[in-house]
Amino acid sequence: MKLLLLCLGLTLVCAHHGGDHDVVMSNFTMSKISGEWYTILLASNIKERIEENSVMRGFVEYIQAWDNSSMTIKLDVKLNGECIETSLFCDSTAENGVCNVIYAGFATMSLIETDYYNYAIFHLINFTSEGTFEMMMLYGRKPDVSPELKERFEELCQKHGIAKENILDLTNVDRCLQARGSHGAEASSAN
Ligand SMILES: *[C@@H]1O[C@H](CO)[C@@H](O)[C@H](O)[C@H]1NC(C)=O
Ligand SMILES: *[C@@H]1O[C@H](CO)[C@@H](O)[C@H](O)[C@H]1NC(C)=O
Ligand SMILES: *[C@@H]1O[C@H](CO)[C@@H](O)[C@H](O)[C@H]1NC(C)=O
Repeated sequence: MKLLLLCLGLTLVCAHHGGDHDVVMSNFTMSKISGEWYTILLASNIKERIEENSVMRGFVEYIQAWDNSSMTIKLDVKLNGECIETSLFCDSTAENGVCNVIYAGFATMSLIETDYYNYAIFHLINFTSEGTFEMMMLYGRKPDVSPELKERFEELCQKHGIAKENILDLTNVDRCLQARGSHGAEASSAN
């Protein structure tokens, strides 16, 4: 009995730490992406596009994944000091984790890595006649993530040819957090 209680106790301790969720890099279950997220890091080959007053500098509030893996993404952008709510629809494609979105042009967004519980890393690419705009996003379930996850993101950015100096940490800027709240709660209770 004592042993049983000890085991139970340990399980609770372990479960409480919660850091050990499997990292998934393919064959994603998109429904598990649904829910609240925070923008932690953004990176781009064209850094100005993720700097202040750019529509691409999006502060995610939540993602709703539909049965066919399309996603509705609710986010805020800050333009001239004002937080503006936007909702995007990313239409699923035949490829797992990949969807197309019309937002400041036509872009393809791919989920590249997640554990569903702590973080998700997306890659977005927009082909234009003038060249390619690429962006990577590190989203966290909480307003910040561990330094290890930020390093992992840097690694993946490098793999995609985005240099470290083109990565912005947004955890210390105004992410329009005051604009969140009731909307996110409504969305998750609607499920
Ligand atoms: C993908 O995941 C599903 C369960 O979510 C599983 O049944 C299937 O075998 C997996 N496919 C591959 C190729 O890993
Ligand atoms: C997926 O579902 C959404 C919502 O039901 C719908 O608007 C969209 O057209 C669907 N997309 C595809 C590719 O079937
Ligand atoms: C994406 O491409 C379109 C042209 O298809 C262009 O007008 C738009 O500015 C691009 N958006 C970004 C963020 O680079």
